[in-house]
Amino acid sequence: MSNLSLDCENLKPFVSDLEVNDLQPQVNLCHDELEDGSGQGSDYLGWMRLPSCFSDSAEIDSAADTIRNSCDVFIVVGIGGSYLGARAGISYLNSSFSNQLQGGPEIYFAGQNISSDYHADLFDLIEGRDVCLNVISKSGTTTEPAVAFRLLKQMMEKKYGANGARNRIVVTTDSSRGALKSLADELGYRTFVIPDDVGGRYSVLTPVGLFPMAVAGINIKELMEGARQGEKLYSKPSLDQNDAYYYAVMRQLLYQKGKTTEILATFQPAFHYLADWWKQLAGESEGKDLKGIFPSSVEFTSDLHSMGQWIQEGNRNIFETFLILESSRRQLKIPTFKNDADGLNYLAGETLDTVNEKAWLGTASAHKEGGVPNMTLKIKDRSPYSLGQVFYFFERAVAMTGYLNGVNPFDQPGVEFYKKNMFKLLGKPGF
Ligand code: PA5
Repeated sequence: MSNLSLDCENLKPFVSDLEVNDLQPQVNLCHDELEDGSGQGSDYLGWMRLPSCFSDSAEIDSAADTIRNSCDVFIVVGIGGSYLGARAGISYLNSSFSNQLQGGPEIYFAGQNISSDYHADLFDLIEGRDVCLNVISKSGTTTEPAVAFRLLKQMMEKKYGANGARNRIVVTTDSSRGALKSLADELGYRTFVIPDDVGGRYSVLTPVGLFPMAVAGINIKELMEGARQGEKLYSKPSLDQNDAYYYAVMRQLLYQKGKTTEILATFQPAFHYLADWWKQLAGESEGKDLKGIFPSSVEFTSDLHSMGQWIQEGNRNIFETFLILESSRRQLKIPTFKNDADGLNYLAGETLDTVNEKAWLGTASAHKEGGVPNMTLKIKDRSPYSLGQVFYFFERAVAMTGYLNGVNPFDQPGVEFYKKNMFKLLGKPGF
């Protein structure tokens, strides 16, 4: 059963069925390359079978329980693909105010920037409280999380002693390489392994995403069941049967028509970090060789009062993908006021979901009339099962778009440029 549905009705004036069908042979070729590992970046295709190869959540759940019972504050240290999946999952599934309301430790993130104030504020916040942390880095050498980890490790060793700190630190890294792996071996940290054939931004369904989500109280078994269903649904070559490929084809056709920016538009604050995860997945995978759609995101209706103007009447180089939640967990109804001074009685008795839905429908047709092709991916609910499908849907779609556009969707050579300059300026040996 699919918890996702793709609606491309509003693309009709911009993309024809014929153009879609004409791409099927190329999709077949790219699909075969993905399946038989004959395409670019084939050393990093492990993500494709993560859901069907996942047998048991027991090890992750038991480590997560230990952490949940040992601290008030849990800090996830990582950047890029070693950060965004966990953050996306936790904010998609938990309360908007989970740090204040939910049982279990408060969850914070570190090492996703090098801001002194951010980290100093975090230290203020955790002062006097029991802390556990999960440091995540596949290479084990990324500067941002390494700096944050050094600071936090020092603080924890001072507070708990070396032995006490050891029991509060969990490392997620490569099976054999990198400074973090050596450190974990030397100091005896509990360690989860990131499979060799899974790159950072495709790693949300490994312990990189699963362990922090489990600490946040999320049912990762259900999430992986949803992802497994996604693997079944989105591993078929035919565009008639595979919405992830259909979405990829629409993106590619729009890109070829000069629609070089895709805006992922959500109407749910809970989707904020999912959009960030998607931007990283699409941006790092597709933006290379002077090609690629620029992925961006907006959060409606807030951004209808800011970026809405640009989208309606600005440069026509954009297309939009609405990410819509079909049904909220809880329904709030607009009350009736005897004195209709605010003029809202015409909405009395309506749910906020109804109003939000009309806002989406009104926006989609206004943007279409304004020359912005748009499509909608509807998600049934905010369950782990649906989220597992969403993760897999976008991974398949982005891999397919990369291959359709002739780039390697599994490397990120461009990321090294800033690092080289920064290391040179910092006087790192060898630079
Ligand atoms: O997708 C990627 O590969 C990157 O975004 C990495 O996840 C990011 O650079 C962090 O790398 P690492 O996990 O090696 O610290």
